[in-house]
Amino acid sequence: MASKSSGKNRIQVVGICGSLRPSSFTRLAVDLALQGAQEAGAQTQLLDLRNYDLIFCDGKEDERNYPKDVFKLRDEVRQAQGVILGTPEYHGGYSGVLKNALDLMGFKELEGKMLGLVGVSGGAMGAANPLSSLRAIGRALHAWVIPEQAAIAHAWKKFDEKGKLIDESLEVRVKNIGRQVARFSFLHSSEKAREFLEAWEVAPLNPGAD
Ligand SMILES: Cc1cc2nc3c(=O)[nH]c(=O)nc-3n(C[C@H](O)[C@H](O)[C@H](O)COP(=O)(O)O)c2cc1C
Repeated sequence: MASKSSGKNRIQVVGICGSLRPSSFTRLAVDLALQGAQEAGAQTQLLDLRNYDLIFCDGKEDERNYPKDVFKLRDEVRQAQGVILGTPEYHGGYSGVLKNALDLMGFKELEGKMLGLVGVSGGAMGAANPLSSLRAIGRALHAWVIPEQAAIAHAWKKFDEKGKLIDESLEVRVKNIGRQVARFSFLHSSEKAREFLEAWEVAPLNPGAD
């Protein structure tokens, strides 16, 4: 994969798949978006929730008995500058698995992060509603949700037997989500961006006034 940056300075992008189904199309879509991020120079990791022993979020008042995977998931997301969230459409919404994972996290993991969204549905709606709801969740967590998103309607007929999207333009669209997350993450964490934000903090409220 092409990459101009190396080592610890590389942008980290993680993908969280909101389906636990073994041959999930959402996982394929998240993987594809991560490929796009990788091609843009990022280091990527799929956080497959099947591999995490999580609990239902209980309000987080006493976390002493939480399984260690809750803290592992949090650590992995904290280390990333960009996050791809993938959800299947379940009853017109996003999946409970994804929501629970997000509820076990919070500002420490997601505030200020770039978020890219991909959705998958069995029917014709292409997870439009779940994607809008995830966008609102991103706002609530003070994340930067990139304007573009990718939706795969009728997912059961969109992938070939090797798990590749048949429609090349759709493949480009999904990959672009990862590319954009990687690039915006880079811009957002660059020295120039930091300088701009520092200048923003001290800028007068009404700079043109007498
Ligand atoms: C509980 C449940 C609810 C679903 N609800 C919808 C739905 O409202 N609209 C739709 O288009 N597909 C719906 N589906 C179909 C899934 O979106 C489709 O099977 C998708 O491929 C699942 O994602 P996955 O392949 O990543 O597991 C539902 C599937 C399940 C299991």
